[in-house]
Amino acid sequence: MQVPLMDLKTEYQQLRNEMLAAVDEALESMQLFLGPNVQALEEEFAQLCGVKHAIGVGSGTDALILALLALGIGPGDEVITTAWTFIATVEAIVHVGATAVLVDIDPDTYCLAPGLVEAAVTSNTRAIIPVHVFGHPAEMDSINRIAREHSLYVIEDAAQAHGAQVDGQFVGSLGDCGVFSFYMSKNLGGYGEGGMVTTDNDKTAEQIRLLRNHGQTSRYEHQIMGYNSRLDEIQAAVLRVKLKRLQWANQQRREQAALYNELLADCPITVPTEAPGVRHVYHLYTIRTDRRDELAAHLEQQGIGFARHYHAPCHTQPACRPLGLNQTALPQTDQAALEVIQLPLHPYLSDEQIRYVATSIKEFLT
Ligand SMILES: Cc1ncc(COP(=O)(O)O)c(C=O)c1O
Repeated sequence: MQVPLMDLKTEYQQLRNEMLAAVDEALESMQLFLGPNVQALEEEFAQLCGVKHAIGVGSGTDALILALLALGIGPGDEVITTAWTFIATVEAIVHVGATAVLVDIDPDTYCLAPGLVEAAVTSNTRAIIPVHVFGHPAEMDSINRIAREHSLYVIEDAAQAHGAQVDGQFVGSLGDCGVFSFYMSKNLGGYGEGGMVTTDNDKTAEQIRLLRNHGQTSRYEHQIMGYNSRLDEIQAAVLRVKLKRLQWANQQRREQAALYNELLADCPITVPTEAPGVRHVYHLYTIRTDRRDELAAHLEQQGIGFARHYHAPCHTQPACRPLGLNQTALPQTDQAALEVIQLPLHPYLSDEQIRYVATSIKEFLT
């Protein structure tokens, strides 16, 4: 049996008629930028997250950059984040001219360890970027408390956590800004590039709207130096079709994770945890074993897809060496990098496929 890590083709086949009609309508209108679909998606996404504003931008990376810029973060400022993330989180900090300060992770959730955040705050710290990695929200209560005590901004990197919740509140509504990616593999993914910033603050929202569109207030009136980072109408049309199914898709992911947990219970591996009060949306189903690379070779032989995020976390990347980030001691991050492996998980995965994967792992490890 072949079990791919994710399966976007099956999803497309299921949604094809509705998707083609939505894209056709957008093309027929020929209003291809900042038109009715972007506006509607922004409203629908803001409503889902429970925030006043959602602003569609060119990518998740741009969403991070524009959020940092809108909050006035730049040269001389320090931003605390994690190395256990996609490089974009660190890139955004560097591109606005600020300094990335990396802090170790909680080994159970892989998210920023709040106890260590406090110790990393200096007089130059201006913001914290917790990453809700793999779909599990970071410990926002503690992070927000530290931010309040030191007058810091909090930008949630929710690129991997659309629809995740803490005590019934959606990520994207838990900090000053929330940042989402619509890269195709995400829980809410488009068929190209796209991103979104969420915020309750009117001024921040207005600034991001200006920044994403060349600082334009009206046609060819440019108030500030901005960027070209508009979410396009075709992506918004695609995303609106998928947004209707996001809660269903996340529920599928949760049920699949529960089945894996049950089937792998007596296996010498660590399955994902879900902190109390949290609704994990399993962007990735991550297990840990000290025999990770042997297991990967076995899965490959069995026709089972896998990934090893993050086998090379940000501080180990050549791009981060000139910044001296490779000097940061991150023992939990380094240990996790040796042990993590992701198993197939997507809304169209069958129980039979999950059973096949679990049996293959058990046969190999026990
Ligand atoms: C945690 C995290 N932050 C930021 C990004 C950047 O998003 P994008 O690829 O849409 O620029 C990603 C996406 O890959 C991500 O996983």
